[in-house]
Amino acid sequence: MKIIDLSKIQNKSKNTKRINSFADDIDKGLSLKNKAISSKYFYDDRGSKIFQRITKHPDYYLTNNEIEILNKVKLKLPNILKLKEIDIIELGPGDGSKSKVIIEGFLKKNYIVNYYPIDISKKALKLIKRNIKENNRLNINGIVSEYIVGLSYVKNLSKNKQLILFLGSNIGNFERSQSVKFMKSINNNIKKDSYIFIGFDLKKDPRKLNKAYNDSSNLTKKFNLNLLSRINNDLQANFNLKKFIHYGIYNPLLGAMESFLISKEKQQVNIKKIKKVYSFEANETIHLEYSFKYTIEDIENLAKKSKYTIEKHYKNNDKGFINALWKK
Ligand SMILES: C[S@@+](CC[C@H](N)C(=O)[O-])C[C@H]1O[C@@H](n2cnc3c(N)ncnc32)[C@H](O)[C@@H]1O
Repeated sequence: MKIIDLSKIQNKSKNTKRINSFADDIDKGLSLKNKAISSKYFYDDRGSKIFQRITKHPDYYLTNNEIEILNKVKLKLPNILKLKEIDIIELGPGDGSKSKVIIEGFLKKNYIVNYYPIDISKKALKLIKRNIKENNRLNINGIVSEYIVGLSYVKNLSKNKQLILFLGSNIGNFERSQSVKFMKSINNNIKKDSYIFIGFDLKKDPRKLNKAYNDSSNLTKKFNLNLLSRINNDLQANFNLKKFIHYGIYNPLLGAMESFLISKEKQQVNIKKIKKVYSFEANETIHLEYSFKYTIEDIENLAKKSKYTIEKHYKNNDKGFINALWKK
């Protein structure tokens, strides 16, 4: 498996003024009236490892629900596509446990599979390398990059019909209007008649949601606080993790789980690489993540607004999760 790191290629081409987008985004986010940091920064090496443990935790029902569906459809998808060779492009695959199920289905149906996992985390791609082995019917080219940058890069490599995977309810990280823009930009970067297979977590009892994002082993707490460790390590900051609490709660008006870190006391934090000190009031929040939950109507509207045709919606047994198969 080859791994192409696009962030390195892009930084090299700007060698006079190396743009440190992580530092810029942290500065912007911590300078807002309501402080906020994008959830895409959770996934440094340690963050990706902790997330892998979260997916195996019984409170985090999402993974099992989706794997149940993947096992049901893995031999159906190759029949729907009716081809001999396929380019499977995955956005944010994590450790590739789910990808493996889908890929196995295509291999069992004698396809040649060219798999392009695109993930912002290099660690995720290294985990895939360990989890999924290449053979004479399976080629893997991993790309370290943001979703759309990676997708437009793959556009030049991909020669066959495409199946895009966007699993695990990653779509939930986008606010409603952003999700339409995002799905449209995927649409603009894939071939005509391509299929896309997306995971949607459905609206459900908030107690179940709150339990999933506040697991009994405190893994999500660790995962969220790890973002402060990442800032400490990468940007030479002095966040004291003991002075922040993790707070994850379902907002029924938005229809989204929201994750915050909350400052326990009035404090100041110095980020040396940005050459700035940030002040926190007692009980002040940093917003970290949205996980929007969907109704079937929301899913249908998203498909329509972003110009896809719905082929089929697959549900798990308790009907709490949907994998949608759409066509460009
Ligand atoms: C919630 S995990 C889901 C992993 C996997 N799809 C699953 O269902 O278990 C999100 C994954 O997407 C990646 N990711 C998050 N934001 C990203 C972005 N903007 N561009 C590329 N990858 C991103 C993360 O590194 C992580 O591996």
